[in-house]
Amino acid sequence: MASQDTTTQPAGTTTPRRLGQAPAPESLDPAERMSVDELRALQLDRLRWTLEHAYINVPLYKRKFDEAGVRPEDLRTLEDLALFPHTTKADLRDNYPFGMFAVPQDRISRVHASSGTTGKPTVVGYTREDIDTWAEVVARSIRAAGGRPEHKVHVSYGYGLFTGGLGAHYGAERLGCTVIPASGGQTAKQVQLIQDFRPEIIMITPSYMLTLLDEFENQGIDPRSTSLEIGVFGAEPWTEKMRREIEDRFDINAVDIYGLSEVMGPGVANECVETKDGLHVWEDHFYPEVLDPITQEVLPDGENGELVFTSLTKQAMPIIRYRTRDLTTLRPGTARPMRRMDKVTGRSDDMIILRGVNVFPTQIEEIVLGLDGLAPHFQLVLTKEGRLDRMAVRVEAAPDCTFDRRVVLCREITATIKDKVGVSVTVDVVDPERIERSVGKFRRIIDQRPQG
Ligand code: DLL
Repeated sequence: MASQDTTTQPAGTTTPRRLGQAPAPESLDPAERMSVDELRALQLDRLRWTLEHAYINVPLYKRKFDEAGVRPEDLRTLEDLALFPHTTKADLRDNYPFGMFAVPQDRISRVHASSGTTGKPTVVGYTREDIDTWAEVVARSIRAAGGRPEHKVHVSYGYGLFTGGLGAHYGAERLGCTVIPASGGQTAKQVQLIQDFRPEIIMITPSYMLTLLDEFENQGIDPRSTSLEIGVFGAEPWTEKMRREIEDRFDINAVDIYGLSEVMGPGVANECVETKDGLHVWEDHFYPEVLDPITQEVLPDGENGELVFTSLTKQAMPIIRYRTRDLTTLRPGTARPMRRMDKVTGRSDDMIILRGVNVFPTQIEEIVLGLDGLAPHFQLVLTKEGRLDRMAVRVEAAPDCTFDRRVVLCREITATIKDKVGVSVTVDVVDPERIERSVGKFRRIIDQRPQG
């Protein structure tokens, strides 16, 4: 695709500084021990079932397949999936609230919904068996991150319609861990609970982890002294720089978890702590493809594009070729037979087009994080001057940063952004505590441009 994301390190080319211990082979799920051929055969079987289930039970899929002139039985190989139409967020919105469900209401045991900023949320449903599958993939994810049944897991993802809290909760319970359902917010209380209950694992957005970092420091507690050993971070893009920042400041292993409510919730893919070389997609349940977002052509593994998922086992809401808008690259498996996806460093709809240049907030994160004199908090403010879009990078000074150092930092960041990203921006190094803190998914972009 045209806007190749320059912040992604090709997986496997770096040696992460700190690696954790692989789980014992006998503790893995059978699918984690399959050969690639066995996995492909299982996927083909499950894909056939899913297409038929969707076609028979969801009017939208029947209509879309008929319009495209395809029938479920046209799928003879996994590659034939390319014949089938995509599904988008708009399809889910148009069928609000329950029109995408493929089973009668009495078989739905839970609904979740995405936090759409405008209009109606997108609603997803689960049967009892779907909840079971979800717990299994999240348990597998926590184990891949280094979690073990004897661990205590502090869950700071929000509980509610958002899938983060309950998804993490059921998975940690399934693995046999003790769950501390803290949910998001009440930051001072989170710190107290971590001090008193001594969890080994925390599940939280990376931006909220930085808010906790401040709170530990404000309370005079060394963040490296806590009981935490592993963090399972996701729900928003974060970079290798952010990983290093969190690992160093907390002395933990920071592992990436990915997912989206339309496909299941957290636990669609997860990094293995012993390699930290991208996220293994749990391909026995979710079939990934990468598309050129413009031509919509399926790209071979190794090329960057938009991630698309088809569920393989979901009963309540099978999803066919769902366009996630997330940009990544698929690569062969390493620690597991399933393929890996590179860290998602941007969504096509997070991409800022500034005077013809594509900019992702993660590119700015890579540049501002870890600079001496700065705190790891920044936001991007978009405005319009005449017909020109402008971007201001607001980044927070560390408490001990002198005025002179701030001036130097401003110049340095402006020049680096110009050089590495190719755009001119203004940089504002603001006083400590001036940038809003995250309590969940963080909004990095403040768009003050007139709408319409
Ligand atoms: O964010 C599910 C989740 C909860 C994942 C907790 C991980 C941990 P949604 O609210 O539907 O679901 O948002 C999904 O968030 O399409 C990505 O753009 C982004 N996202 C999720 N995980 C990651 C990640 C949950 N690890 C949307 N890296 C997705 C980058 C992520 N982006």
